[in-house]
Amino acid sequence: MQRFILSIFLCFVAISWFLNCSALAEVITCSGLVPMKYRNDKISITDFGGVGDGQTLNTKAFQEAIYRIEHLRRRGGTLLYIPPGVYLTESFNLTSHMTLYLAEGAVIKATQDTRNWTLIAPLPSYGRGRERPGGRYMSFIHGDGLRDVIITGENGTIDGQGDVWWNMWRQGTLQFTRPNLIEFMNSNSIIISNVIFKNSPFWNIHPVYCSNVVIRNVTILAPPDSPNTDGIDPDSSSHVCIEDSYISTGDDLVAVKSGWDEYGIAYGRPSNDITIRRITGSSPFAGIAVGSEASGGVENVLAEHINLFNTGVGIHLKTNIGRGGVIQNITVSDVYMENVRKGIKIAGDVGDHPDNEFNPDALPIVKGVTIKNVWGETIQQPGSIRGLRDSPFTGICLSNIHLHGVAGPRTAPWTCSDVSGAALQVSPSPCSELTSTHNTGACSIPL
Ligand SMILES: *[C@@H]1O[C@H](CO)[C@@H](O)[C@H](O)[C@H]1NC(C)=O
Ligand SMILES: *[C@@H]1O[C@H](CO)[C@@H](O)[C@H](O)[C@H]1NC(C)=O
Ligand SMILES: *[C@@H]1O[C@H](CO)[C@@H](O)[C@H](O)[C@H]1NC(C)=O
Ligand SMILES: *[C@@H]1O[C@H](CO)[C@@H](O)[C@H](O)[C@H]1NC(C)=O
Ligand SMILES: *[C@@H]1O[C@H](CO)[C@@H](O)[C@H](O)[C@H]1NC(C)=O
Repeated sequence: MQRFILSIFLCFVAISWFLNCSALAEVITCSGLVPMKYRNDKISITDFGGVGDGQTLNTKAFQEAIYRIEHLRRRGGTLLYIPPGVYLTESFNLTSHMTLYLAEGAVIKATQDTRNWTLIAPLPSYGRGRERPGGRYMSFIHGDGLRDVIITGENGTIDGQGDVWWNMWRQGTLQFTRPNLIEFMNSNSIIISNVIFKNSPFWNIHPVYCSNVVIRNVTILAPPDSPNTDGIDPDSSSHVCIEDSYISTGDDLVAVKSGWDEYGIAYGRPSNDITIRRITGSSPFAGIAVGSEASGGVENVLAEHINLFNTGVGIHLKTNIGRGGVIQNITVSDVYMENVRKGIKIAGDVGDHPDNEFNPDALPIVKGVTIKNVWGETIQQPGSIRGLRDSPFTGICLSNIHLHGVAGPRTAPWTCSDVSGAALQVSPSPCSELTSTHNTGACSIPL
């Protein structure tokens, strides 16, 4: 009997060991949010007169190919194949149930003739263009009200040739807000994978009022001095999965947003359930950011396994008076950073206003932020957490954070104000606001 029980026990141990191991071997991913779809109906841009010589303008070819997909409505959707070559084009609209497939060596290149770029209405949650009043230029590749769209391939390139736009910004000659490289509005079931994005005029990938979006295995590149070339900005969107990507741009690598001041408050659409995982890159601004436009609220964000090099601020939660909105349940873990100006920053005084109509009583709320397992080398300042006097940041939990300074005996200290929470195993030791409030129940530290 005893032997029988022993063998049952051993068997149980063996099975749980096996299950554990297979769980470990499996890569954790959120990409199942939108299953990859294979399409039987395939067309090539060359069937529509597309010429990949880098000179010919292919706007008509893209429009006609996509018109064909939209109106023939083949069962299971249609794949539009872009063969190797450089396809110059003006901006164009996608349609539902399509895959834009870039072969290895395929480049879709934006024209640098900015004169006839389509203008579209401002986003209701911004009330105006983000950088200029009035409308805004349509994104280079655009989708509004779509579902079931895939942009993928074999590491082909979407090149925004943004330097003409950056120069207009620098010279102050921009009439309207610059175009994003890719924008999806009011859309769902979107996959963007295995593509290189280069030199966006403005933000690179902007899903706004969307749900179920997977952005995976992409490379996003823009020079460090290119203005506002954010990598991926989920904006008033839910269920977004961003994984396995390299991003090196002139602004925040990933910034979760939800509208701007009184317009964002009135529109009231949050960003929630956002996963950001296995991202590597560098930026003169933030690695992982929330805000500063967060007026619709941002909640349930998980960012993990992040590697940052030569970056301004590693983790940056930013908002402002007049923004309103609740930023809550944000978890950032397993971050390695090297050569970073400031490791962690949570601030209530960042970002500008759309106009003077913003409500100074619309105070943002920041609560329930967990940052854990962070290792940094050559960090100029470990961090600062500054809440608002009339809206202190609460439940800010730091644990197992080691941010090593630049060489020398002097390490810049943490600075804090109007914040409560807890800190465990944080070096250099954080400010007294976080260390003195233990066991308040405000914050249980998961180790
Ligand atoms: C593309 O979509 C935008 C906004 O939805 C619209 O203003 C524009 O006319 C469309 N362009 C074409 C060529 O259909
Ligand atoms: C821009 O549009 C105007 C008017 O529609 C047209 O005359 C002009 O040829 C266009 N320019 C280019 C470069 O397409
Ligand atoms: C894909 O493109 C990126 C950027 O050019 C490059 O670093 C990477 O090695 C490419 N991957 C493959 C498998 O070609
Ligand atoms: C990621 O991209 C590389 C090419 O850059 C490719 O070899 C690899 O299979 C891709 N992985 C997935 C999961 O698509
Ligand atoms: C907090 O966010 C995580 C995702 O990071 C989610 O799994 C969890 O359910 C959220 N908690 C609450 C109370 O909503």
